Amino acid sequence: MTQPRDHQPGDHQPGDRIAPDYIAPDYIAPDPLVAALAESLGVANVLTDADQRAGYETDWTGRFHGESRCVIRPASTADVAAVIRLCADHGATVVPQGGNTGLVGGSVPRGGEVVLSTRRLTRLDAVDIAAGQVTVGAGVTIAAVREHVRCVGYDVAVDFGARDSATIGGAMATNAGGSRVLRFGTMRSQVAGCEAVLADGAVIGSLAGLAKETIGPHLPSLLSGSEGTLAIITMIRLRLVPWYRETATALVALPSLVAAVELLPTLRNALPHLDSVELLMPSAMELVCEHLQRTCPVDDRAGAYLLIECADHADPLDDLAGVLAAAAPDSSTAIASNPSMRAQLVALRDNVTVAINHTGTPLKLDIALPLAVLAATTAEIERIIAELAPGARLINFGHLAEGNLHLNTLGAGEASGAITEAVLQRVIDAGGVISAEHGIGVAKTHWLVAQRGAPEVAALTAIKHSLDPNGLLNPGVLLP
Ligand code: FAD
Ligand code: MLT
Ligand code: ZN
Repeated sequence: MTQPRDHQPGDHQPGDRIAPDYIAPDYIAPDPLVAALAESLGVANVLTDADQRAGYETDWTGRFHGESRCVIRPASTADVAAVIRLCADHGATVVPQGGNTGLVGGSVPRGGEVVLSTRRLTRLDAVDIAAGQVTVGAGVTIAAVREHVRCVGYDVAVDFGARDSATIGGAMATNAGGSRVLRFGTMRSQVAGCEAVLADGAVIGSLAGLAKETIGPHLPSLLSGSEGTLAIITMIRLRLVPWYRETATALVALPSLVAAVELLPTLRNALPHLDSVELLMPSAMELVCEHLQRTCPVDDRAGAYLLIECADHADPLDDLAGVLAAAAPDSSTAIASNPSMRAQLVALRDNVTVAINHTGTPLKLDIALPLAVLAATTAEIERIIAELAPGARLINFGHLAEGNLHLNTLGAGEASGAITEAVLQRVIDAGGVISAEHGIGVAKTHWLVAQRGAPEVAALTAIKHSLDPNGLLNPGVLLP
């Protein structure tokens, strides 16, 4: 075919006969992969227009953004296998995305990847009453699974503020934690089986959900926390817990973080139905009350606030009130078991992250420390941040029982890098971890060796390369 000659705008007047080899200057050749994907999924499920793609290309915090090649929306494991094969044939990199509520930049493109949205993987099987399990599509939100299983008296063990948008597949991929870890463990403990698609389109996994299977390494455990780098999780067999309908909630004002940590063993030992112990330091309480335009329902001169919940089949209010009266007799406390009063107290914790994001774009550090050193190390970290960014505002809150603090710094500006380096090193030196529940994403990849050591990261990299030799799945996430 003769090479089309260079043409300039205005070469032709209306009505001119245009040479068959004419290429308009602004002509963009159709992307053969997009055409193949549209053939496979239907045009409606391959988004190419910039405005259609926009919501998939910036993360929840607004800190991470990238343009995608297109956004695809498969509706089944077979669909995912077919489109992954097409992407592999074209050497196209893929970012799996669930609810896009991840906080470490792992769910949005860095530039040019295909975003594979799992939001149409919404199968909801009937609850297996005998086994206390359910099989669901990876794109179902945590709230939707919870509503589905509560109809038959079960509940989902993992819960946190993003429940209405975060998907069960994303929760598994990030090994999500949330407020009920002290009672039921993190997401990896809730996965009894899964189905997933590897980088070459092969479908692996099992949804049998047998409690006992010793047939080699446990695939759901390998994929939990893999952040979309090893496989696309398409279906999950989820362990369920009883739905404890009766919940009592207490907000307790304590003199310090030391006092809060000291109260923990008493709560654990005296309250068998203890469901969550959430921490708000004064900085968090002040911001969330500002945001909600409410006054703090307890003494607002505290050094630390605990939101404590007990859940059972019978109302645990008296138990909770009795233990607090004995263990923290001088503390200012608000306690409730009626739903509307409880909702008021829970809103204070559930809205901290939203309040932060409404105030500015935070530097987010999600760390966990051994409880024995939590208070002392936190005080050091607060000093480090104040020295490196004197004008910044540190908002500190989290999940106390796991020593999991969410150190959100507003106004860190130029000092963000220095704060991250200094704080994460201090955390590692104190025997803690640089990511308690949000994952590594793109935000902390270069910290993985410091955290896990070169031999372990090399082993993880070998696993990645064996499952995804061409580096198609979420490149740049998790592994340096
Ligand atoms: P996305 O954000 O879409 O993706 C997250 C990561 O998982 C990405 O790397 C993505 O590639 C990968 N991924 C997603 N789906 C799949 C799949 N099907 N297969 C393979 N990889 C996949 N997290 C906590 O752990 N505890 C909390 O308490 C908590 N509270 C939060 C509160 C708020 C207000 C917000 C906005 C977020 C909170 N998060 C919390 C973070 C976030 O909600 C969790 O990480 C959640 O698990 C992400 O789910 P998602 O469906 O939004 O995943
Ligand atoms: C939370 O517990 O609210 C979250 O993990 C979110 C955050 O760190 O902002
Ligand atoms: Zn959290």
